[in-house]
Amino acid sequence: MKVLVIGSGAREHAMVWKLRQSRHVTQIYAAPGSDGMASLAECVPLKPTQLRELADFARERKIDLTVVGPEDPLVDGIVDLFQRRGLRIYGPTQKAARLEGSKAFAKEIMSRNGIQTGGHKVYESAQPALEYLGNCDYPIVIKADGLAAGKGVTVAKTQEQAEAAVREAMVAKRFGAAGRKLLIEDFLQGEEVSAHAITDGHTILPLCLAQDHKAVGDGDTGENTGGMGTYSPLPQVSDEHLAAIERDVLVQTVHAMNREDVPFKGTLFAGLMMTRQGPKVLEYNVRFGDPETQSILMRMKGDFYEVLSATVDGKLDTVEVDWDPRAVVTVVLASGGYPREFEKGYKIRGLDSDFGPDVQVFHAGTKRVDGQWYTNGGRVLSVVAAGADLPDARRKAYDAIAKIQYDRMVFRKDIGWRALKAQEGRK
Ligand SMILES: Nc1ncnc2c1ncn2[C@@H]1O[C@H](COP(=O)(O)OP(=O)(O)O)[C@@H](O)[C@H]1O
Ligand SMILES: [Mg+2]
Repeated sequence: MKVLVIGSGAREHAMVWKLRQSRHVTQIYAAPGSDGMASLAECVPLKPTQLRELADFARERKIDLTVVGPEDPLVDGIVDLFQRRGLRIYGPTQKAARLEGSKAFAKEIMSRNGIQTGGHKVYESAQPALEYLGNCDYPIVIKADGLAAGKGVTVAKTQEQAEAAVREAMVAKRFGAAGRKLLIEDFLQGEEVSAHAITDGHTILPLCLAQDHKAVGDGDTGENTGGMGTYSPLPQVSDEHLAAIERDVLVQTVHAMNREDVPFKGTLFAGLMMTRQGPKVLEYNVRFGDPETQSILMRMKGDFYEVLSATVDGKLDTVEVDWDPRAVVTVVLASGGYPREFEKGYKIRGLDSDFGPDVQVFHAGTKRVDGQWYTNGGRVLSVVAAGADLPDARRKAYDAIAKIQYDRMVFRKDIGWRALKAQEGRK
């Protein structure tokens, strides 16, 4: 089988790595891919937003299955386009992808179907939003409705911060059309969890839980990023809470989409806040998380192609997936300055080190010139390690990182701290 993977980050590198192990897969193309995955996949110079060119390529090369990494092509309707042209593709239709593409739409689905989420109001102009900010409790959360590359949400501690966020979106139009509507959402207290499920619309396969670390600095300090690291499993989430996540969020959402006549196929990724009243949905994503996927696929046992292919065929009930019981930690190595301005083009040393069988290094923003690796993005590498338990996995990940050097490297040294703290508390 020939597979086309759309995207270029460490998430896509991990997907290519996992697909490569499938007994069905004979060739993988990646669009645009990266130098880091070039030994596993043939890179094709097409951007994820070039939907028609991607469909032409899939037709010409007789691709058996296309898998989409990032959200933009899904929200722009790549699945509908491929389906119209008789091409097999994994992911939700444009209508179903609105779960991620419009936070207001997601809220409507949740409120009509009894899925727990933060209380909220939707505004289409600045004045009434600003008025509301004069008599609400703080902190409060301001969210752009549409896709804003992870920059559209402000957790405002004060009225001044909240007003600035409203003006930025609605007056300065920082997010363009994505900020035409704004949500003002109650602040939820608790621990965040990433819950993924693969579904063909009927069968729902929950994947192992993961926890991201959004803030750039240790102890969750500093600005929010695309994600600085993940780990799995989450020993602090009880079986009872896990059951609630699966039953009250993942299964409920898939059923809700069927009831609403927008059946969902593909990866449903709920960002959750574990509150005292149980899990509440912060947002939906309609694709795999980055960097959650790196940890999840490291733990997944089974044929990833079979899972994706069965989902496309509506036969997800015929495949089984097991999970490596070991702990996995993913640490993102970034460029100094990220998520703001950063420099690139620094020489990376040590990537050819022997990292051992329990470590994988996935490339996010790197470039290879004359056999030499250079930094080429804000997030540069994902270092993934499996270990007997979380401390062991962490040690392996950070030992591997010690072998890699480049100027102005930054990374969090505390990935998994919430789980370790919970375990300390229990002793
Ligand atoms: N209601 C809320 N209460 C507390 N924190 C929130 C709330 N909504 C969002 N956040 C924080 O903001 C981050 C980004 O919000 P999210 O809804 O996931 O949007 P996006 O990923 O599109 O930027 C979350 O990961 C969470 O840390
Ligand atoms: Mg999010």
